[in-house]
This record gives sequence, structure tokens and C-alpha cells, in this order.
Amino acid sequence: MLPTLEEVTCLPLAKPFYIGPLLIDPPILQAPMAGFTNFAFRQIVREFGGAGLLATEMVNARGFVWLDEQEAEHPDRLWGVAEEPRPLAVQIWDNEPATLAKVGARLADEYGVSVVDINFGCPVRQVTQKAHSGSYLLKHPDRMGEIIEQVVAACTPTPVTAKIRLGCTRESINACDIAQVVEGAGAAALTVHGRTAADMFRGSADWDRIAEIKVHLKRIPLIGNGDLDTPQKVVDAFRHYNVDGVMIARASLNKPWLFAQAAAAVRGESIPLDPTLAEEKQLMLHHYELVCERFGVEKGTLLMRKFACCYAQGRRGAREFRKHVGTVITPEEFYRVVESFFPEG
Ligand SMILES: Cc1cc2nc3c(=O)[nH]c(=O)nc-3n(C[C@H](O)[C@H](O)[C@H](O)COP(=O)(O)O)c2cc1C
Repeated sequence: MLPTLEEVTCLPLAKPFYIGPLLIDPPILQAPMAGFTNFAFRQIVREFGGAGLLATEMVNARGFVWLDEQEAEHPDRLWGVAEEPRPLAVQIWDNEPATLAKVGARLADEYGVSVVDINFGCPVRQVTQKAHSGSYLLKHPDRMGEIIEQVVAACTPTPVTAKIRLGCTRESINACDIAQVVEGAGAAALTVHGRTAADMFRGSADWDRIAEIKVHLKRIPLIGNGDLDTPQKVVDAFRHYNVDGVMIARASLNKPWLFAQAAAAVRGESIPLDPTLAEEKQLMLHHYELVCERFGVEKGTLLMRKFACCYAQGRRGAREFRKHVGTVITPEEFYRVVESFFPEG
């Protein structure tokens, strides 16, 4: 096969792009992940660099309003949001346009977030069947349009974006139609995870379907998401699937430095090496400190179990480490397990 123009000229493969007034540079985004992308995780990603936009976990709009009414403290999911560096997107979910608009406005005006993202992709029963939100709304494009219009009106000039899946089921893929609704309602970008809600995480993300969406968008950028776990896959996504940006989720839990590596790869620069296992262990301990500063050592240790498992995943001895770290209760136990069982080679 003949080399592509980029390969011949070594031009950067991917250009920075705009979400409304916000420049996304590099065009690689950190995905929202409930239970994981809290302030501590985002801080670690920031320290490595390479993510052009970071995102919180999804925040329930009705819950936010209820806490406000009770004058209660804001949920842990907003930890760090008011003070941390920008750019930062906060993702919200629900199905009432007015509630989402109210929360969007608070996030834009009081918290000064860079982007308000709306979740239309979550496939979890509690969100779809119980709350008629997330990917459930893909079956109700009119409702999606209403939601986006009201949130955009409430948040202007802060850009509002939407994150979707390809459709609810393989038989009802409607991402191209939805993309037009999202753009028509005034959103500033669209992110598409290349699976349907029914797929959950089975099979592979369908990047051909993601690419098909591009011609249906006139104004706003398309961000592709799904299964990007190496710098090479990120390069291939830009090279073959016509996306303006890419978003990385699961692989970054195991390798928060992946954004920096992918950013170098798309710029045609040499890719920074993975940290050594000793450096990774230090990183994990740093992550643990951040979590404990917020939650205290008791809750922090319990919360850290799952992050620690992510760091070890894929390394020799990970199973043994997981078995032990999954039961730690005190900091002493955590440090002992890390010293004894964190993979070394
Ligand atoms: C543990 C977990 C939590 C997630 N939480 C969210 C969320 O809060 N909001 C959202 O839009 N997507 C959420 N996702 C989906 C991811 O953002 C992403 O779309 C999906 O994992 C596919 O990307 P990946 O193959 O890079 O992991 C979550 C995924 C995982 C694994």
C-alpha cells in the first residue's frame, strides 16, 4: 500500500480543534467514568499531560438540585471541580430539560467549568429503565433536542456537548439522525462510543459506524471513542476514521500516561516510555495519598482497592496482588500488600 500524505510529509496527524470557544489541544480527551475519574485520577492524568480535555464522572442533575435544596454538601463527584485547573468538562445526566438546564447553569456560572457534557450513552438499568435517562433517550430524539436546547440556553457562552452510543440496539442504530438532532439543538461537539447500549462492553467498537456520522455534521466536531488502548490505535483512528478528536476511557485506568504517549504519536514525535514498575508503584502511592487527603484513610483505603487493581492489571503477578489488595482495610495493610505483592517484573 502507498504511504499516506501524513506518512510521507510527517505532518501531525491530528489537529487541535474547537469545542465552542475552547481549543482542544491535543485533540485527545479523557473520558468520563463513574467511580473512577475523580479529582485524584484527573490530577494524575494532568501530571503526565497529553489530554486536551478532562472530564468528571457523571453527576445526576436531580440529585444535585436536591442537595442544593437541603443545603447539603455537594456530592463527592464534584470533588475538586471548583478549584482544579482547566480545561475541565463536567458530565450531567437526567431526563428533565429544566433540571439539567438549572444544573448546567450552576456549573457554568458558579463553578466556571469549561464544558457541560450531557450523558446520552449510559446503558446501566438504573439510569435507563429506572430514570429514563442516558442511552434510553436515544429512542427519544425530540426529548434529546429539548434537553440540549435548554441546557445550551442556560449555559451560554459555556459550550455544551453530548455523548452518545450508536443506538439502543444493533437493530435500531440511529447515531446519524441523532447527530443531526444534537447539532441542530446547539451542542458544540458530539462524542460517540462505537457500541450500542445493548452491547454494553461486548464485542468491539464499530469505528466504521463512527466515521459514517461525520458527513451528517456540518458545524460541530466529532469525537470517536471505543477500544483505544495504544498510541498506534489512536493514530489509526485519526488516520482512517475521519474524527476530529478521540476519547480514551478504560485503558487510561491502567495507563494514565497513555494520553501523553498518544499525543506524541499523533504529533509524529517519539513516544515517551512507560514508567518502570518501581515508578508505577510510586505513582500508585501518590494516587493513594490524594484519595486519603479527601476521604480520610479509612474510606480512602477502601476506595483505593479498585484503583490499585487497575495499576497492576496486565502485569505478571497481578492476580495475586488483586487478591490481597481487595481485602485491605487499613493503610498499614495497604502498604504491606503493595510492598509484598505489587508486580515487580
Ligand atoms: C467503569 C466505567 C464507568 C463509566 N462511566 C461513564 C460515565 O460516567 N459517563 C459516560 O459518558 N461514560 C461512562 N463510561 C463509558 C466510557 O466513557 C467510554 O465511553 C467507554 O468505556 C468506551 O471507551 P473505552 O473503550 O476507551 O473504555 C464508563 C465506562 C466504564 C468502564
